[in-house]
Amino acid sequence: MIFSPQRPLRVAIVGAGPAGFYSAGALFKLSIPVQVDMFEKLPAPFGLVRYGVAPDHQKIKEVIKVFEKTAGNPAFSYFGNVEVGRDIKVDQLRSFYDAVIFTYGTEADKRLGIPGENFKSSHTATEFVGWYNGHPTFQERQFDFSHEVAVVMGQGNVAMDVARILCQTPDELKKTDIFQGALEALAQSKIKEVYLFGRRGPLQASFTPEEIKEMGELQDCYPVIDPRDLELNESSHIELSDPMDPRGKKKYEIMKSFISKESKGKQKKFILRFYRTPVAILGLGKVSKIRFEINKLVGRPHEQKVEGTGQFEEISCGLFLCSIGYAGLPIEGLPFSSQRGIVPNERGRVLTGERIVPGFYAAGWIKRGPSGIIGVNKHDAEETIASLIEDLDSLTPCENPNSDAVKKLLDDRGVRSVNFIDWKKIDLAEIARGLYLSKPREKFITIHDMLGVIDNRANDE
Ligand SMILES: Cc1cc2nc3c(=O)[nH]c(=O)nc-3n(C[C@H](O)[C@H](O)[C@H](O)COP(=O)(O)OP(=O)(O)OC[C@H]3O[C@@H](n4cnc5c(N)ncnc54)[C@H](O)[C@@H]3O)c2cc1C
Ligand SMILES: NC(=O)c1ccc[n+]([C@@H]2O[C@H](COP(=O)([O-])OP(=O)(O)OC[C@H]3O[C@@H](n4cnc5c(N)ncnc54)[C@H](OP(=O)(O)O)[C@@H]3O)[C@@H](O)[C@H]2O)c1
Repeated sequence: MIFSPQRPLRVAIVGAGPAGFYSAGALFKLSIPVQVDMFEKLPAPFGLVRYGVAPDHQKIKEVIKVFEKTAGNPAFSYFGNVEVGRDIKVDQLRSFYDAVIFTYGTEADKRLGIPGENFKSSHTATEFVGWYNGHPTFQERQFDFSHEVAVVMGQGNVAMDVARILCQTPDELKKTDIFQGALEALAQSKIKEVYLFGRRGPLQASFTPEEIKEMGELQDCYPVIDPRDLELNESSHIELSDPMDPRGKKKYEIMKSFISKESKGKQKKFILRFYRTPVAILGLGKVSKIRFEINKLVGRPHEQKVEGTGQFEEISCGLFLCSIGYAGLPIEGLPFSSQRGIVPNERGRVLTGERIVPGFYAAGWIKRGPSGIIGVNKHDAEETIASLIEDLDSLTPCENPNSDAVKKLLDDRGVRSVNFIDWKKIDLAEIARGLYLSKPREKFITIHDMLGVIDNRANDE
């Protein structure tokens, strides 16, 4: 196909997170005319940068400026508040675009599959993170902070975010963009001990040195670690001295320094525990204890797996938060691997079985699974765009190359789409609300209220 300013390459991007914006950015660097329309199920863009990144890590959110620059390109259109699969089908989308790039992230979570997991006050990190970050889906959730002990299962950076939010004082949190309702609920929290459990050992924990270091620097919380948990087997000793993994050693040194850390009058404890797998949540419909099996590690360095020892221990607690990773969800009409929780693909080209689905691509977490920091999605998106460019000659042009027709189709269906100018109105209103509270922003937590800003309607708060 030959593209021209009158008939540019038309690309739809599904999902306005980092992978979506990095894909758009890579497309705008091409030497051919391109039109990019981005579809996002929420009115607000930026995916987990807005609804995942911890509110006390504001600096990380500065990447939004890069995404806003991309959105400012005249060949970019935003269709917020449009859920692909529900408001517009995948095949319909393809009829308006020469290529569709799926960057819709991995919104579900992995579960342990143990008895008691559905008890009251047992939640996933996804719910808790969504709640404190003001995500509209999670605002009905209620978390019980009335007990003195909380247990977080998992030792990735998400688990660390969750633990840190529970350990911080209202003073530390009030200057962040945590949603006000969460701030007020956490200010009443009676939690004094926050456990972070991992099934493997200190060298296998996937949190990063920066995140563990922060736990030693909180205003009213100090870290506690049992020296026996830092004892290493032979394979772990080899891992510790691996010159290819200096960050593993750094993390271990930080944890070692926690052994001698004094409380200095601080009221809360952050307690790291290793080698424990939860086997049951005990209680009468509500969490009262977690039963763990104690593990040992077996296997070669960097490939160590857990083996139960047949010994068990129980911890009393009133809140259990499970943070063992995310998982993707299928969209009707798009190939999906339920086993891997991703859209199957080869270098970003969507596959059904062994066969490539022409015109369909994937990038970001839904392409490779739920791991990697924001920047990783840039290289990942560039790989996908490189595949798209290689395929240009063989792409079947779309039937109806017209973005106004997409808007009309959505309007006819009663789908209220939000463009980027509308979003900026919401954005500015949130910043203004934040100024009043001395916060970077105060988010609208319902779609109704976000749309209310665009309509100049008084919100019912
Ligand atoms: C809790 C948490 C904290 C994190 N903190 C950091 C951090 O501090 N620093 C860092 O570098 N990385 C952090 N990360 C990792 C980072 O957020 C991810 O690497 C990145 O967001 C993945 O980008 P993505 O675009 O693939 O997915 P997402 O960011 O999840 O974006 C996907 C978008 O698709 C939309 N969508 C979903 N379904 C549909 C649909 N059917 N139709 C239309 N739109 C849809 C979603 O609403 C969302 O906006 C964190 C991750 C989590 C989970
Ligand atoms: N500040 C930041 O930069 C930041 C903040 C948040 C998130 N992120 C990034 O976002 C990505 C996702 O983070 P994440 O924390 O969700 O994932 P993660 O880093 O993959 O951590 C998942 C944790 O869950 C454990 N786990 C998995 N399955 C389990 C099971 N069945 N039983 C018990 N434990 C289990 C893992 O242990 P095993 O190792 O034993 O499997 C691991 O400790 C990561 O790349 C992370 O770095 C970055």
